[in-house]
Amino acid sequence: LSRGVFPAGFTFGTAASAYQVEGMALKDGRGPSIWDTFVRRPGEIANNATADVTVDEYHRYKEDVDIMKKMNFDAYRFSISWSRIFPEGAGRVNWKGVDYYNRLIDYMLQQGITPYANLYHYDLPDALEKKYYGLLSKRVVDDFANYADFCFKTFGDRVKNWMTFNEPRVVAALGYDDGKFAPGRCTNCSAGNSATEPYIVAHNLILSHASAAKRYREKYQAKQKGRIGILLDFAGYEPLTDSQDDKDATQRARDFHLGWFLHPIIYGEYPKSMQAIVQDRLPKFTEEEIKMVKGSIDYVGINEYSGYYIFDPHSPKPTKPISYQMDWNTGFAYARNGVPIGPRANSWWLYIVPWGMYNAVTYVKEHYGNPVIILSENGMDDPGNVTLQQGLHDTTRINYYKSYMTELKRAIDDGANVIGYFAWSLLDNFEWKSGYTSRFGLVYVDFKTLRRYPKMSAYWFKNVLQRGKKN
Ligand code: GCO
Repeated sequence: LSRGVFPAGFTFGTAASAYQVEGMALKDGRGPSIWDTFVRRPGEIANNATADVTVDEYHRYKEDVDIMKKMNFDAYRFSISWSRIFPEGAGRVNWKGVDYYNRLIDYMLQQGITPYANLYHYDLPDALEKKYYGLLSKRVVDDFANYADFCFKTFGDRVKNWMTFNEPRVVAALGYDDGKFAPGRCTNCSAGNSATEPYIVAHNLILSHASAAKRYREKYQAKQKGRIGILLDFAGYEPLTDSQDDKDATQRARDFHLGWFLHPIIYGEYPKSMQAIVQDRLPKFTEEEIKMVKGSIDYVGINEYSGYYIFDPHSPKPTKPISYQMDWNTGFAYARNGVPIGPRANSWWLYIVPWGMYNAVTYVKEHYGNPVIILSENGMDDPGNVTLQQGLHDTTRINYYKSYMTELKRAIDDGANVIGYFAWSLLDNFEWKSGYTSRFGLVYVDFKTLRRYPKMSAYWFKNVLQRGKKN
């Protein structure tokens, strides 16, 4: 595998998010986000870890950008922390936060690393949660658009690739259905109503995305000549058997996973299967909202890691369906006729299924009008790689990347309009629920000293991404 087999101009980068890597969570004027509050609830995070320091990219961004450059990457997908810019979510600006992103962006450009800026990666300003229940309120739509507008105005002379939200499905499902992510609401958790809240939140996320995109297009795009998109998580899906029931279940899984967001954005309405199942718990778009939402992306980011067999749980059950898939009416199986779908990584949801990459990307191409796609996350955490010695010898990760990137290339050869690929992640970092017990990095981080040590996979990437190399 080498850079040369991908289309000319194809972008390779790594991805990360503000809360996971920056540190300085409550310093230099940053206001708390809902994650700062959430991690302080005892028992929510492995070893009760916080991201107060994490890998301290706030101070070490130059070192990290230098590593990217050494590894021959072209781009860095980072996220801006809303509460670092607006500590109360709206109103007063924290100029120290603005300075930080200016320094980061300027240094990247100086080193030839293209900035891809995402405006929201799970970290709602806690002030807005307290003020009006955050994403449950339509008031968030204007506050988000104003924050986005400020970022376009301030950084858009240099940032040409914008993304509004990362994985809004995860926000809605994990934050409001199973309660595993901030703000930790669900019917059986501390608070919430998981039958309705995820749908309300998703609706407000779609409107927030669309109104930010509208601002960008009306006020900035012509002059700044950038593009705007959204980042959606997806996976490879195959019916467990070729029964019609399992095929229908597979369609439902894709609709509830991806279509929930991509369908309104491309077609102006929720998927038919969701309308039929969720019925009047599913909010409706007004005519005016449809106009704003439909066509509100220049490209779609797809985060892809895993693959699953899907079955209809009302047919005979080979395995237990996993619990948080509200209303999906699907079961997930990890083996077919006794043959595992793939080896499991460290994370419970991550199976190594290279064909899932081809499958997911091709599905987006075929069902959503062949949009411009950025493969915005792909990667794995290996089990048991705790010590430095174990961590550095990550041959499983090399094989993972090699096989998934080969499948991506096959999807491109078959017509998918993919223009970039981002590995998750450059560094081991704060992995949400799992804290520091899950390592996705190409570079090992000793969380005590914060020293960075490139793993074998980093050298592998460096070689693959070398310019002017063919084979
Ligand atoms: C996301 C992901 C990342 C994770 C990565 C590994 O929302 O983009 O949750 O933040 O760290 O997917 O699990």
